Amino acid sequence: MKNLPHPIQYQGSKRNLAPIILRYFPKAVNRLVETFAGSAAISIAAAAKGLVQRYWINDLNHALTELLELVAEKPEELSDFYEQLWNHQHPDSIDHFYRVRDEFNRTHDPRLFLYLLARCVKGSVRYNSEGLLNQSPDKRRLGTRPETMRKNIMGVACLLKGKAAFTSLDYRDVFKRVEQNDLIYMDPPYQGVCGHRDARYYSGISHEEFVEALQELTARNLLFIISYDGRRGDKTFGEFLPESLDLTRIEIEAGRSSQSTLLGLDEVTFESLYLSRALTEKLNFKPINHHKPLQQQYSLFDRTST
Ligand SMILES: C[S@@+](CC[C@H](N)C(=O)[O-])C[C@H]1O[C@@H](n2cnc3c(N)ncnc32)[C@H](O)[C@@H]1O
Repeated sequence: MKNLPHPIQYQGSKRNLAPIILRYFPKAVNRLVETFAGSAAISIAAAAKGLVQRYWINDLNHALTELLELVAEKPEELSDFYEQLWNHQHPDSIDHFYRVRDEFNRTHDPRLFLYLLARCVKGSVRYNSEGLLNQSPDKRRLGTRPETMRKNIMGVACLLKGKAAFTSLDYRDVFKRVEQNDLIYMDPPYQGVCGHRDARYYSGISHEEFVEALQELTARNLLFIISYDGRRGDKTFGEFLPESLDLTRIEIEAGRSSQSTLLGLDEVTFESLYLSRALTEKLNFKPINHHKPLQQQYSLFDRTST
């Protein structure tokens, strides 16, 4: 699990938490549906573990899902394109970044997005109110080297080629089309930023609308898992999901935030994971809180899953 390929650097990626989230996958899932896929870290991890054979990868940000589709289906062409673009950034890489950004905002070419994500600190893109990318580049690094990028792209293609469908729908339209025995994994943009504006992502979502949509999934007795905010120290972020949804909530220790470390604070972040009733009924163990550093959790996972 440690060396999962990850061509797409993306803020809020669940790559590190994937080994724990996968513990809650029931056996014999028909298809994994990632409604807020981002970098599709959970689909990639599930494929690497051989847990699921079919995937539906969705994110409202169409440049992102088009990019993921290229990674899975046209890995050679995408790697060649990245290599050329990356090499062109010499001698003035900052100016090159801004020129590529302008072109991306004009054309929405997903291949340019790959380079821009690789050049921002931790894939932390920012959007303005018109939906245009306005993040500046990491001034100290040139972004993933082409040979590493190629390895990561080929790694994902090996796992997902021919097995995944890609869409850029609103999550509620995905909900309408999910079926019994699909497992739906949701990692919506964090709350805290109200309403539909969220500069960190292409779009935010409303808590109330999300809860309403989840009510239908619950009524249909579907299998789903939601990553939803959490707490740092005693401070909780966002609202809890209501009891009427009949979900089981557990916490995963996600580590110390870089901000807390910088300030010398001894604060650990915990992320919430909610499991649907239909899902917990299928598990042959009781969900628990994962209040231990991730490294210790991984070894526990690897022991129990082999
Ligand atoms: C927290 S990120 C997901 C990160 C992902 N789990 C990963 O590992 O990379 C949330 C994603 O939700 C997407 N999003 C925002 N509003 C959406 C909507 N209404 N429907 C579908 N996706 C949406 C954003 O574009 C963003 O990529």
